[in-house]
Amino acid sequence: MNLTKPSFARSLFVIAFVLAAHGAFNANAGNVKPPPSSVTFTEHIAPIVFNHCASCHRPGEIGPFPLLTYADTRKKGKLIQQVSERRTMPPWHPLAPRAGPR
Ligand code: HEC
Repeated sequence: MNLTKPSFARSLFVIAFVLAAHGAFNANAGNVKPPPSSVTFTEHIAPIVFNHCASCHRPGEIGPFPLLTYADTRKKGKLIQQVSERRTMPPWHPLAPRAGPR
């Protein structure tokens, strides 16, 4: 896995930061850590997509494409950034008052 390309490293950073800042992972809501100085898929991104996206974004589920690997996630990086900023993903849920579109 080559994360040395600066533009990709930057988009991973943005995704991690946006998801954290928007409370996409409720366990950390209100306790958002500053973004790390270097971001890796395994350490920072995989836990987010596995816990919050892969339940739907896997073969046989409702999500239109899988988010199970580095390659899957890398391919959709820009779109993930956009849906995270717009808060359209993960989908709104009544038990997560800070999630969903505003
Ligand atoms: C409850 C199921 C579910 C979960 C959880 C979920 N998704 Fe989705 N996702 C979908 C479905 C269904 C679609 C297709 C419908 C649509 O585009 O509105 C979709 C579409 C998308 C798209 C394409 C949007 C577009 O405009 O084409 C992206 C990107 C995406 N999801 C990213 C994510 C990310 C990132 C997460 C986790 C933070 C996530 N999703 C969690 C069900 C889910």
